[in-house]
Amino acid sequence: MNHPFEINKDGHLMVGGVDTTYLARKYGTPLFVYDVSLIRKNARAFVDTFRELGIKAQVAYASKAFSSIAMLQVAKQENLSLDVVSQGELYTALQADFPVERIHLHGNNKSYQELSMAVEHNIGCIVVDNFSEIDLLEEVLTEQNKTVNVLLRVTPGIEAHTHDYILTGNEDSKFGFDLLNGQAEQAFLKLQNMEAINVVGLHCHIGSQIFETDGFIMAVRKLFETLGAWKQKFSYMPKVLNLGGGFGIRYTAEDDPIPLGGYVDALVDEVAKQVDRHGLDFPEIWIEPGRAIVGNAAVTLYTTGAKKEIPGVRKYLSVDGGMTDNLRPALYQAKYDAVVANKANDPLTEMVSIAGKCCESGDMLIWDIEVPEVEYGDILAVFSTGAYGYSMSNHYNRFPKAAVVFAEQGEDQLVIQRESYQDLIKNDLPYEIKERV
Ligand code: LLP
Repeated sequence: MNHPFEINKDGHLMVGGVDTTYLARKYGTPLFVYDVSLIRKNARAFVDTFRELGIKAQVAYASKAFSSIAMLQVAKQENLSLDVVSQGELYTALQADFPVERIHLHGNNKSYQELSMAVEHNIGCIVVDNFSEIDLLEEVLTEQNKTVNVLLRVTPGIEAHTHDYILTGNEDSKFGFDLLNGQAEQAFLKLQNMEAINVVGLHCHIGSQIFETDGFIMAVRKLFETLGAWKQKFSYMPKVLNLGGGFGIRYTAEDDPIPLGGYVDALVDEVAKQVDRHGLDFPEIWIEPGRAIVGNAAVTLYTTGAKKEIPGVRKYLSVDGGMTDNLRPALYQAKYDAVVANKANDPLTEMVSIAGKCCESGDMLIWDIEVPEVEYGDILAVFSTGAYGYSMSNHYNRFPKAAVVFAEQGEDQLVIQRESYQDLIKNDLPYEIKERV
């Protein structure tokens, strides 16, 4: 079994030094349990590697992976910066007292309100995505009589997929300015002419759950082709190069990621080569890992329920959650590994498929996994659910959202309460019912 957690003498899975069967009893299921020391370890793998290499950097946690007050407190304590993509994520960051100068705002359709809030709170940088946004931002800056740092988001024409990447002449993406057809240069010139805007550098993000460094290296080369040209033409020297996130993690034994620091090594190595080649100053390097910070740090606990056997075909084992707390299998055919948390040392005796409890045939969490003899009321722990699990959870079938617990050094704390049924209907308003006609 490929997971970073301990199993205690009773054969129970431990997370953050706490028995998960105790947590399931105490808080109910479905329950997300984060091992905070693993979040810290992942963050430090990035931060420390930059420091050891002597590179000025910002490691901006992509809060879309999992945003909550508690999570952002830990991110702040670990000296991370923060990537937010909406007013809701920005609001959460402000409520968590996250240092505003380390917040970066993203989004392909930032609203007037989002930009206003960002400018009003003097956040560190806005990653400008398209021409419409430039106009909107100008309006906001004039209105508030403020200046702002921006990064120009470009699409380098590299499409990275999980295991391979292909070069596309002209990437078809809703994000960023195209490097190949001159849009990026046009946007750059427009921004450079605006007094209230300081273009600190370029941003690109090539995809998510990427294991190989080649795609990142290719992106760095593309960015420097442009930066080299802009140096010649406009004497422009970027202060910052933001290379996005996307660093892959292990979900199942099939995944074989490199250590997190290895991604940093590869990026820094290529930037160094390109800086020399184009005669540029070494920029600060910013990255935006989301999944790699929190993905492997959490498990989701479920209680096992109904079983159905179709002889000779399959055994279904249902749990008390599913696509409402983990949409990834239904949306991306994402694969997960799991263990029966109260029988973690028992011999694996049967093959089952883990079904969620939503009214949807596609609500399957894991196809074909070996488990010990499972009874009603056992606790199933699904690994690596820390990223894009809770953050993509939803209310389908009117299931209340799960609770989230942080465990560290043998202590547990509830950091997001389980939704109640009252919470579910709190925005419902009665209809002033008309006579039937
Ligand atoms: N920066 C930008 C501009 C991004 O668009 C993303 C992710 C990240 C950073 C963080 O990527 P990460 O390091 O987490 O791979 N819901 C999908 C993932 C969507 C990612 C979207 N952008 C999933 O569950 O796999």
